[in-house]
Amino acid sequence: MSQFPKDFLWGVACASFQCEGAWDEDGKGPNIWDDFCHQTDGVKNHDNGDVACDSYHRYKEDVALMVQHNIKAYRFSMSWARIIPDGDGEMNEKGFAFYDNLVDELLANGIEPLITLYHWDLPSALQDKGGWLNRDIIPAFARYALLVAKHFRGRVKKIMTLNEPQCIAQCGYESGVHAPGYKLPWEQVAKVYHILCLAHSAAQRAIKAELGDEMTVGAAICGNLCYPSVDTPAGREAAYKATFDLNRGWSFNIFLDSLILKRYDESAFPAIRNFAATIDPADWDLMEAPEFIGINVYQGSEVDEQGNDVPRYRGFPITAMDWGITPEVMHYGPMHLYKRYGLPMYITENGMANNDVISLDGMVHDPQRILYLNSYLRELKKCIDEGVPVLGYLQWSFLDNFEWAEGYSRRFGMVYVDYRTCDRIPKDSARWYAKVIESNGETL
Ligand code: NOJ
Repeated sequence: MSQFPKDFLWGVACASFQCEGAWDEDGKGPNIWDDFCHQTDGVKNHDNGDVACDSYHRYKEDVALMVQHNIKAYRFSMSWARIIPDGDGEMNEKGFAFYDNLVDELLANGIEPLITLYHWDLPSALQDKGGWLNRDIIPAFARYALLVAKHFRGRVKKIMTLNEPQCIAQCGYESGVHAPGYKLPWEQVAKVYHILCLAHSAAQRAIKAELGDEMTVGAAICGNLCYPSVDTPAGREAAYKATFDLNRGWSFNIFLDSLILKRYDESAFPAIRNFAATIDPADWDLMEAPEFIGINVYQGSEVDEQGNDVPRYRGFPITAMDWGITPEVMHYGPMHLYKRYGLPMYITENGMANNDVISLDGMVHDPQRILYLNSYLRELKKCIDEGVPVLGYLQWSFLDNFEWAEGYSRRFGMVYVDYRTCDRIPKDSARWYAKVIESNGETL
């Protein structure tokens, strides 16, 4: 197999609420996930983020483990309520100090920090004012974004505004399986998407006006990705069309079409069209195309040349999330996004939950994860070989962590966390990934 590009960025990813803990330390304000865990039955076993992996106190140990495993980049998110406890008021110096120390520790060890500004943990005070349904959040988010960008000027080069707007809008405001747990009609969900687009845009504009080329601004997104059952031009075209079909329910279109193409897709169903008709035309001039797209890739759907779903065969391989193992999405998914949007990309997440256990020898053996990552990365290489500019790959996740509504019952890490003690045990996959990075993908 030929090599990955020379400066390909190999790394790992995580998010504040999922690993930090220290939920009420050093002046941090409460956020909607604290509330969702503490006040509802929405999370399995009533798990919460109070301690999580305790990365707030153990970040040095985590960075040392990253160094040991040749990690070159770490994508992490910031807790908005740690930095500005009520979301829009005074800054909390102590909260900021945590990220300062983390960034310095990473840089001192030759690891590039990539920041996500919002990975779902909205300050509760902003939720009380309507959250992502209230346009007042747009300037608040831009202010927070600028504060962070200025603070890390010269140290951080890549920043992502939002993580998975699809989940923010649909899991948070439609199905209610995530905080804040709302179940609203689609007209309202589309409004959340629109406000997210405007918030991304305002943040990007503010950062670029102040920092110019010193910082590159993107967003990390997810969506329905389809791959062809036969690799013919008609097969590829059918998979492309299905990927961007809004009726499939989980799509890139609303967010990325709004920002980049500045329109709603014609495949939109009536409720979305109803909302689209209410958009102030001036809003379209406010939309900012991200400078890169981060894609979170887990599973995809196979479609035939007619665009029909190919049913999965009996016993189809699945992960502990019950998600299909479909490495082909890594070949065709970024390709579809490049065809439609023409922007450079990073794989900002990819990985699997597995029922990992500590073996009798005290180690954690996870051949399933190695197979999964190996297969997906080999497909990614095919994609890059076809000329698609994918510039890096950030595995999800370095540590086992809090998997939202599933609590701690799902393990995505390459490093096992024993939640009784928060001890870390690198799994076989961590050692395997270290070799992949060392060889720049040649060992795949
Ligand atoms: C996407 C989300 O960004 C992340 O927070 C989550 O843990 C992984 N997918 C796995 O579900």
